[in-house]
Amino acid sequence: MILEQPFVQSFIQMGTDGYDLGWHERNGGNLSYRLKPSEVEAVKLELNRNNPWTPIGVQVENLGGEHFLVTGSGRFFRHLSDRPLESLGLIELDETGRNYRIVYGFENGGKPTSELPSHLMNHAVKVAINPDYRIIYHAHTTNLIALTFVLPLQDEVFTRELWEMATECPVVFPEGVGVIGWMVPGSIEIAYATSNKMKDYDLAIWAHHGTFAAGKDFDTTFGLMHTAEKAAEILVKVLSMSPAKAQTIQPQDFRDVADAFGVTLDERFLYTK
Ligand code: 13P
Ligand code: ZN
Repeated sequence: MILEQPFVQSFIQMGTDGYDLGWHERNGGNLSYRLKPSEVEAVKLELNRNNPWTPIGVQVENLGGEHFLVTGSGRFFRHLSDRPLESLGLIELDETGRNYRIVYGFENGGKPTSELPSHLMNHAVKVAINPDYRIIYHAHTTNLIALTFVLPLQDEVFTRELWEMATECPVVFPEGVGVIGWMVPGSIEIAYATSNKMKDYDLAIWAHHGTFAAGKDFDTTFGLMHTAEKAAEILVKVLSMSPAKAQTIQPQDFRDVADAFGVTLDERFLYTK
């Protein structure tokens, strides 16, 4: 049974954890997972290869023939565990990477998330960098969204401010975070803009909307989103108490953390304020 496969169970668990943290009101957010060859092999007899091909809207040549587990458009994360066959489905890409077809799930007229172009373009960028990347996660992270109304929408500023909020942040996301200005969701344009940020980062914040995280497994991808959102929550609390910090982690402190934990931090984030 496909639903009993560990990767499906982990997918449902991750989405449910995000729902429990308040990141998935109504149908907010979406999740995609690129299957391993062994996982495709394990489920192949249950797949229906008779559905028509549908254009993705973008071309992801290096993902041709890959299978993805994806949340459904308009479906509620709240129902991932009690109505999985409506809430999620499996898709297969054709060899050109231009079209997909549904091979499992999306029952009762469902289809993949409206953010499929962003998900697949992000996967394409990440696979080209490291084939171990398998997950793209979009969540409506309350505090990161709140910050996009008060901080300049610059990668350097968001990275530095989040890093200052928790000593673990520069260790968990040493490459920093990307930010893009408000754009129409579900569009090809936002897919290009997001995947461009994914060349440099594993986190991309959409102003006034939410966050995308990329990762190699369910735990670390969820943990990345959780860590950034927690740092944002602390910053919202700090800014709510006072516009100025009485003390904070300084650039040399970050360099010392980098040495101690064996990570590299780009000096462009360690500017003098
Ligand atoms: P979907 O329901 O199509 O996944 O859209 C939710 C969302 O968060 C759009 O950005
Ligand atoms: Zn969204």
